[in-house]
Amino acid sequence: MSRARLLLFAGDGIGPEIMAEGARLLEALRSEGLDIEWEEELLGGASIDKHGVPLTDAALKKAGEADAVLMGAVGGAKWDTLPFDVRPERGLLGLRKGLDLFANLRPALCFAALSASSSLREEVVAGLDIVIVRELTGGVYFGEPRGIEDLGNGERRGVNTQVYTTSEIRRIGDVAFGLARGRGGRLCSVEKANVMESGVLWREEITKLGEERFSDIELSHMYADNCAMQLVKNPKQFDVIVTDNLFGDMLSDCAAMLTGSLGMLPSASLGETRPDGGRAAVYEPVHGSAPDIAGRGVANPLALLLSLAMLLRWSLGEDGRARRLEEAVERVLSAGLRTPDLVSGDGEGVRVVGTKEMGAAVLKEFSS
Ligand code: IPM
Ligand code: MG
Repeated sequence: MSRARLLLFAGDGIGPEIMAEGARLLEALRSEGLDIEWEEELLGGASIDKHGVPLTDAALKKAGEADAVLMGAVGGAKWDTLPFDVRPERGLLGLRKGLDLFANLRPALCFAALSASSSLREEVVAGLDIVIVRELTGGVYFGEPRGIEDLGNGERRGVNTQVYTTSEIRRIGDVAFGLARGRGGRLCSVEKANVMESGVLWREEITKLGEERFSDIELSHMYADNCAMQLVKNPKQFDVIVTDNLFGDMLSDCAAMLTGSLGMLPSASLGETRPDGGRAAVYEPVHGSAPDIAGRGVANPLALLLSLAMLLRWSLGEDGRARRLEEAVERVLSAGLRTPDLVSGDGEGVRVVGTKEMGAAVLKEFSS
């Protein structure tokens, strides 16, 4: 691969603080010979303040031309009163839709050192390694009609539409089945086929796809409410979960807490593979902009750094370096370093550090 071009969107809230640690890792990667360059662009509230919109056409174009995008987080109280279609979150959704990033991979991995940090009992989460594959460009997030209409007499009506087509279901199913094939060989498809027609179609199409092309994968189906319950009851029963946009949003937050903290979960949002072998890709932590702790230097940069590891693996084909970065994170945690979100119980043998110190410790382990 020739020089890889990355685009960084630090975004809002804790975004810039955690992205600074990502940038330090990128510097280190470049110094050790990885052929990369990067540029920064504004997204979300930061873009609204400068350009009046959460994502400019120019920034979207750059993201599409980059080999991969690394993102911090968007949103904050400052922009919450703006009209819906110019809020920071619309920038993120515009990026997903604009680059057709239909496949969102959200691995939930419980590092050994953190198995006591989860709000669940240690034996329930120790060794957990699952992936939620969330459909990201369809469903109720984008379905039409949508809006709020005035019915007169002080009565209003809010509408969103849950809609999925055969091809949308098949292409996300394809990614999930493929992922399961490279892992434990099991896929659980999640919907609400007991109440929603879109769920009935989802189940039928996933079943058909499995029979046609993935008969080696053990396929099961689960209703979304049951899946939420099973995730906290016995999460290790799962290997790969495939689900729609809204259920995937909720179930991945739920899965995040199994790993000790929402501050630990990375994600990859991928587009279709192009004929040249490349694909649009945005890597971002699952957590949000955490305005309550922004600017205080205490945010956990690990989800961002683990997102960078996913970028190395999925977009640059740098599996070895990705693994090295993940192992560096593991060693730092084993040594007892914790950002405040990771501290639980009496915190024995643990040293609480801020964003910069955590980033520096990972960098040191990575480079040693
Ligand atoms: C996520 C977030 C986003 C979503 C928000 C910020 C729009 O919660 O990526 O999970 O709902 O998809
Ligand atoms: Mg979410």
